[in-house]
Amino acid sequence: MSLLKGRPNGHILCVGHLCVDIISLCSTYPEEDQKVGTTTRRNRCIDQRWQRGGNAANNCTVLGLLGSKPYFCGTIAASHERSFIMDDFAKYDVNTEYAVVHEGCECPASCVILSEATGSRTIIHCNKDLPELAVDEFKKVNLSNFSWIHFEGRNVSNIREIIELVREYNSSHSESQPIIISVEIEKAKPEVEVLVPLADVIFVARDYAAYKGYTSMDDAIANIQLLAMPEATVICPWGEMGASACTGKKAIVRSPVFSPPKVIDTLGAGDTFIAATIYSLFEGKSLQESIRFGCKIAGAKVGVRGWEPLR
Ligand code: FRU
Repeated sequence: MSLLKGRPNGHILCVGHLCVDIISLCSTYPEEDQKVGTTTRRNRCIDQRWQRGGNAANNCTVLGLLGSKPYFCGTIAASHERSFIMDDFAKYDVNTEYAVVHEGCECPASCVILSEATGSRTIIHCNKDLPELAVDEFKKVNLSNFSWIHFEGRNVSNIREIIELVREYNSSHSESQPIIISVEIEKAKPEVEVLVPLADVIFVARDYAAYKGYTSMDDAIANIQLLAMPEATVICPWGEMGASACTGKKAIVRSPVFSPPKVIDTLGAGDTFIAATIYSLFEGKSLQESIRFGCKIAGAKVGVRGWEPLR
């Protein structure tokens, strides 16, 4: 399958959330009321760092590392964290001209605990008052610059309208190649489902599949296909089982997992899979090759701390 006919001229735009991740890598997951330091005996804090986070922001990091000069569109607080975030976007060659700055609010943040013993990542996220992207803010995006727009499945009522705008743009520019629309369905919330019938490519996260009671990749794909457009592509990563995907009535394609020698940092593994898979599809590779590439890059990511060693 090739979603795009020929090499696209436009860029990839990722629409979604942006926050700061405050990450502590501990030797084991702490007990309640335990004090963990760099030299404590029972449990140790091995590393601590700030990282730019949020699913769409992470997608951009990985696309940037792969050399595709992505764009980010989402809201950002005009707080003191802003320069850290903007400098970091620049480091990965991410264009932020469509980041919408909001005065007088706080930057959303996640406290993340990574456990060296199990490879788990526990995320406590808080967005106090940063507004989600508004439809009018998206209207400033020059759609002719883009060949692919990826949407994080959140802020559902606005994103639904925004996707309709992109679809209208596609219908009124039928002489040029349509912009491919992909969505990530991850959050365990009933409302995200309304985005499924609007997308050409749907990434279904395992967390969402578990919430819906889907028992396997094939089960998740079959159920999402019931809601999707007939020719849509449904892609389902499943942790240590790798990933499966299917376009319309074609046969399911699969990839194994590519585990690193040691799992070190699983924060953003799903975001990495999505970005690498989009990158590969964008390059004109087949669905099978693309999910394999997604699994390989996600496997490499979980074997290192953060993103930088992937350069
Ligand atoms: C990882 C992530 C983190 C962020 C959290 C927000 O997928 O995007 O970077 O803290 O999820 O839900």
